[in-house]
Amino acid sequence: MARSFVVVALFVSVLCFSSVLARKTPEKFNIEGKIYCDPCQFAFESRLSFPLAGVNVTLICIKEENDTVTYVKNSTTDANGMYNIPARGDHEEEICVVIADSPNKGQCKEAMPNTSDRIILTNNMGVTSSVRYVNPLGFMTQTIDSQCNLVVKELGLDTLDD
Ligand SMILES: *[C@@H]1O[C@H](CO)[C@@H](O)[C@H](O)[C@H]1NC(C)=O
Ligand SMILES: *[C@@H]1O[C@H](CO)[C@@H](O)[C@H](O)[C@H]1NC(C)=O
Ligand SMILES: *[C@@H]1O[C@H](CO)[C@@H](O)[C@H](O)[C@H]1NC(C)=O
Ligand SMILES: *[C@@H]1O[C@H](CO)[C@@H](O)[C@H](O)[C@H]1NC(C)=O
Repeated sequence: MARSFVVVALFVSVLCFSSVLARKTPEKFNIEGKIYCDPCQFAFESRLSFPLAGVNVTLICIKEENDTVTYVKNSTTDANGMYNIPARGDHEEEICVVIADSPNKGQCKEAMPNTSDRIILTNNMGVTSSVRYVNPLGFMTQTIDSQCNLVVKELGLDTLDD
């Protein structure tokens, strides 16, 4: 009787131990997003937008209490304007953002009001997939494409004025 109790206790403690271990395995995330060029100065993506290659993006996590940077990773967009940043660890207690650097060449380097997007890097909030999608971020051209008027009409934005 006593012996079987010991066996059960041992079994339970092994179970507990292994679940602690499972929780401790470093979490891995893949942060994916897109950088586009807006040739209309809309500051949003339209059918005239196109992908921007070679844009540097930075994932940065910060501890809010003392403004300490806890994690930094860089990446660059490919020919389709897509980037992928592999990240490790749980960052539930931090604020993590992806920031796009203004391109230093080409026509499309005017910053939009938003050049960053916040992401949640933890599995403790019910999201089990390891892929985190960042909202598309963009830059604008200085001159406005001649087809933009048409898009303004298509979207019904012209009726918003006056
Ligand atoms: C900032 O706070 C965290 C805990 O909240 C601590 O681990 C870290 O050492 C602190 N960093 C500095 C520079 O004070
Ligand atoms: C990432 O890029 C930022 C700015 O583009 C730079 O300041 C930083 O040193 C880079 N960090 C790494 C780890 O490459
Ligand atoms: C991107 O980052 C790399 C390495 O930090 C740097 O050499 C390059 O000039 C940057 N490119 C742009 C477009 O900022
Ligand atoms: C713009 O910034 C806000 C606040 O940081 C964020 O919630 C929102 O998702 C951002 N939008 C885009 C398109 O990145």
